Amino acid sequence: MKRINIGICGLGTVGGGTFNVLSENRREINARALCEVQVAHVGARSDNPACNTDAAKVSRDIFAVAQDPDVDILVELIGGTTIAKDLVEKALANGKHVVTANKALIAEHGNELFAKAAEAGVSINYEAAVAGGIPIISALRDGLSANQVEWLAGIINGTGNFILTEMRDKGRDFADVLAEAQELGYAEADPTFDVEGIDAAHKLVILASLAFGMPLQYNGVFCEGISKIEPMDVEYANELGYRIKHLGVARKVEGKGIELRVHPTLIPESRLIANVDGVMNSVLVKGNAVGPTLFYGAGAGALPTASAVVSDIVRVARQLAAGAGTDSMMPSLGFADNKLQDFNILPIEEAETAFYLRLPVADEPGALSKIAQILSEAGISIEALIQKEPAEGQSSVSVIMLTSRVLEKQMVAAAKDIEALDIVEGELTRIRVEALK
Ligand code: HSE
Repeated sequence: MKRINIGICGLGTVGGGTFNVLSENRREINARALCEVQVAHVGARSDNPACNTDAAKVSRDIFAVAQDPDVDILVELIGGTTIAKDLVEKALANGKHVVTANKALIAEHGNELFAKAAEAGVSINYEAAVAGGIPIISALRDGLSANQVEWLAGIINGTGNFILTEMRDKGRDFADVLAEAQELGYAEADPTFDVEGIDAAHKLVILASLAFGMPLQYNGVFCEGISKIEPMDVEYANELGYRIKHLGVARKVEGKGIELRVHPTLIPESRLIANVDGVMNSVLVKGNAVGPTLFYGAGAGALPTASAVVSDIVRVARQLAAGAGTDSMMPSLGFADNKLQDFNILPIEEAETAFYLRLPVADEPGALSKIAQILSEAGISIEALIQKEPAEGQSSVSVIMLTSRVLEKQMVAAAKDIEALDIVEGELTRIRVEALK
């Protein structure tokens, strides 16, 4: 049986998980890869006590792995976009296929790295970069390749979903839940990447490029995190029959371009994706032939992420063992490089969604009608409304509304007019709403 040698760089949470999955599931992996897959070289700053690396060469300098002539596939699991980029470039230049879980690297530098890989006649594989254990990359490249994708929407940051779920179910404090997500190894090294939506934006950009066949456009994505979500909005959303989820949405608007946005979103609780809780991820893809498809699974954690990393290793090892040339390998974004289209990425002002509005209003006759009039003049219909009695000793009441779908710029203009009313006694809170039909 032919042997394919793996070099693993980084032996932390995901690296350790990958190492152990390759060892524990060796029989199934080799049978599927049609060859013997062996970890020949590990590059890590320190040992991982959970991994027995006796049978592999171990280097403290990760670049030694990229230079090792015995290594066929280099697995980059160190994270970040500086040293990781140098490492991947070195591996490509040395003719090694690369497997990575690094979403930031792919989203921000993928175009350049894919070109270098094509030049070197090797591949870059990144199943683990989006939604952890869910095989969403291969679903978009392979399983859904018959379709024109109309839109996709996903809960693609486990930490953010864990925080929102704990806030809703247990009324827990934001910071407290974040600290737990860090302890559990879900959160990014810099957790603002999770709570401010940067991690989800990286992942959305990758999904959108695969779905629509376009170069990665990280600079075009609109990004809003969950740090400003108030517990009372979670409660009011519940009362209205909705859940607040942090969603990445990519939608093709015929004749105009692509909406690419990450933000907290109210979703009707009757949708399956609204019930995806904790650290779990889920991606909804609407294809013109297949209709809606929903993918669900663990979005973070050592073994789920390792599952995705190893699936890439198996596929590449099988191709190498079969002696397949790079011509027969899947293009990096699933479309021939010269068929990628530079779609216009629409600014958020041009996105169309419904809205949840909450505003503190003076408890006096006619207050509500003044707000309704502004919305009506802007062509925005009120779909649902709750008005709360004033709390003891307070003169203002909370008014909560769901609106019809409207362009963001029209909503922003109407919100400004509403805030300028003398009966509005504070800032208006605005959260986008998606029916996902
Ligand atoms: N910090 C990420 C998350 C890890 O919470 O989803 C997986 O990409």
